[in-house]
Amino acid sequence: MAAENSSSNKLWGGRFTQKTATSVEDFTASVHYDRRLYRHDIEGSRAHAEMLADNGLLSEEELAAIVAGLAEIEAEIEAGTFTFQKSLEDIHMNIENALIARIGPAGAKLHSARSRNDQISLDLRLYLREQCDDIVALLVNLRRVLARLARGHLGVIMPGYTHLQRAQPVLLSHHLLAWSQMFTRDGDRLRDCRVRINQCPLGSAALAGSGLPIDREQVARRLEFGEITANSMDSAADRDFAIEFVSCCALIMTHLSRCAEELILWASSEFDFIEISDRFCTGSSIMPQKKNPDIAELVRGKSGRVIGSLMSLLVLVKGLPFTYNRDLQEDKEQVFDAVDTVRACLSIVAELLAEVSFKKKRLARAAGSGWLTATDLADYLVLKEVPFREAHGIVGRIVAHCVERSCELTDMELADLRNFSPLIDKDVFEILTVEGSVDSRISAGGTSLARVSEALAREEQALGMTS
Ligand code: ARG
Repeated sequence: MAAENSSSNKLWGGRFTQKTATSVEDFTASVHYDRRLYRHDIEGSRAHAEMLADNGLLSEEELAAIVAGLAEIEAEIEAGTFTFQKSLEDIHMNIENALIARIGPAGAKLHSARSRNDQISLDLRLYLREQCDDIVALLVNLRRVLARLARGHLGVIMPGYTHLQRAQPVLLSHHLLAWSQMFTRDGDRLRDCRVRINQCPLGSAALAGSGLPIDREQVARRLEFGEITANSMDSAADRDFAIEFVSCCALIMTHLSRCAEELILWASSEFDFIEISDRFCTGSSIMPQKKNPDIAELVRGKSGRVIGSLMSLLVLVKGLPFTYNRDLQEDKEQVFDAVDTVRACLSIVAELLAEVSFKKKRLARAAGSGWLTATDLADYLVLKEVPFREAHGIVGRIVAHCVERSCELTDMELADLRNFSPLIDKDVFEILTVEGSVDSRISAGGTSLARVSEALAREEQALGMTS
């Protein structure tokens, strides 16, 4: 094999008389990160070679040599014995160069009707297709944890919040299933995004397509793509499949960050709703009493990285003239970082949640103070044909009265309540309890035990958790 740093080392050596400056090799190389795509690159090359052979562009012997050579290279990369050369820039040229060094002229035929422009798009699509599937599985795993918690705590009441002010009592299970809804949509979005990823660009070559007798459909079928890309120029220029994927990741991270924020609040002594297990907390190096929710904080913090990657990609692409520009090489690190971050966060949040313990008494006490059933009282008056706005005013005055006397609605005497509205009877005390309030929320999607039980059963069914 030619020595590193010599122009003859390059697969395009012909036009050049001087070797590339070492500083340029350092500056342009991507193989230290795009080597992650080796499996996809080799898989794509295999499919491409088979198609070339079927269309008379490679002999059966040449194809056999290519397939065997690629298998050896793959095994070496997997064993960690393959020498990557930064002078060969990227994963594509490292593999192709190694193949030529190994099998000679047959290897030099592999790049017929192909360019690195369609090759990198192919590799990235193959990689992201897998990542969609893996991340969907991680989302399902997280939803299973939430469904188990919801099942284990069915009936536990907590305050529901708006503006971070106690608003109305809800079931804890309802809250957990609300989180699940976000992750269900995230999975749907990834599946949808996968449809656009799952288009085969190979054969678009540099930008204009190929003059050689190739069969793009065959390659697409062989690699299990849904279809081929429609326009060779778009194939070389397009990165929106990657941007869309990272935007799905950014939204997952945004959702995880909201959960993390609530876990942090709930673990504080101000809320004191949960205990995060020791295994998922860290201590302070100076304050011996501290037990900090660092995992949740890091998840919240890491959302910034992925949102940042999305912004980087959008800015990266926005000013690019058609078709390929080397700028596009900058996409990989953002995509890989988004993948690694979202995977790590989905896994650790699922682990942490599985070991959270909820303080039922604290939750119930919090739900029982702060006039959380005021809306129920207004609804009670509505059922007695008081217009809602008027009922709202009456109950507002009752709450003001409670505030003044530092008491809860349930502490009021019937006679006092009747001073505000003679329509109030003693049956009012049933609806003023938090249990009564929760039970009354029977509208579709509401927090009554009946509705939440149905929702949980549906979720368990969707997740294959029913026995
Ligand atoms: N390493 C390149 C990238 O990531 C592969 C495509 C290079 N194509 C080219 N014409 N220089 O974008």
